[in-house]
Amino acid sequence: MSKITIVGAGNVGATCANVIAQKELSSELVLLDVKEGVAEGKAMDMMQTAAVCEFDTRIKGVTSDYAATANSSVVVVTSGIPRKPGMTREELIGTNAGIVKSVVENALKHSPGAVFVIISNPMDTMTYLALKVSGLPKNRIIGMGGILDSSRFKYYLSRALGVPASDIEGCVIGGHGDTTMIPATRFATYNGIPVSSLLSREALDKAVADTMVGGATLTKLLGTSAWYAPGAAGALLVEAIVRDQKKVYPCCVALDGEYGQKDICIGVPAVIGSTGWEKIIDLHLNAEEQAAFNKSADAVRSTNSVLGN
Ligand code: 2OP
Repeated sequence: MSKITIVGAGNVGATCANVIAQKELSSELVLLDVKEGVAEGKAMDMMQTAAVCEFDTRIKGVTSDYAATANSSVVVVTSGIPRKPGMTREELIGTNAGIVKSVVENALKHSPGAVFVIISNPMDTMTYLALKVSGLPKNRIIGMGGILDSSRFKYYLSRALGVPASDIEGCVIGGHGDTTMIPATRFATYNGIPVSSLLSREALDKAVADTMVGGATLTKLLGTSAWYAPGAAGALLVEAIVRDQKKVYPCCVALDGEYGQKDICIGVPAVIGSTGWEKIIDLHLNAEEQAAFNKSADAVRSTNSVLGN
């Protein structure tokens, strides 16, 4: 079974590790953090749930010891500072770009064959940065934002309809930002029935608006950014990779002409398997959706441009 590394033992990294262990996605899971003792402590705490939750994954916590991560097949990057209430994800770039760059370089030295999953914010730009600094084939760099945003979209739709979220299909494409994400309402269904035929325009618009500020709403309530859904969504992406599932998830990937965009990492549906993202699915956006996608790409590109500084 494969070995997985999670860099960053904060709320998101630790939650992701916990879900991965409970799903037994690997025999070995390394949790790395720069703060002395934090990863070791969280790993030990999680290992003390192994008997209760009945999993055999061995979680090892380390402080900045990249040698311990050697030969991982997946490296999940959650490092960096989270949002404080009122902050946008984009405002984190100054601090997080340097952190993500060094994490990717260090992890890559020890796991040259790994698929990298980027969760750190601003996620689309951090994914683009990881692609550039690693020099890896584009398929091996995947940003996780779309699965999270889609899960929030399904949650809000399920509440509007009064049905289980697991009965809802829906995807959010575009950037992982409060104003850049695009909940694709035309493709959202309840057991195959378009939600647009079941909800009023007003209710549908509210689900979209709530989804877009889903992260900000939680940051306001919690005083820091969310972790249960981001961590679980990250684990779902890791599962598709290590189990070579060929599942289609909205993920942040490098576009080279698909969706009319180039030289950008942004959310679109992609087939996920053991080699990373294997194929981009074309949703055949209508003119209005394509215009929204182009606007989202412009905003992501403008955040990317800050990287040069
Ligand atoms: C969120 O949306 C942390 O970006 C993450 O909650």
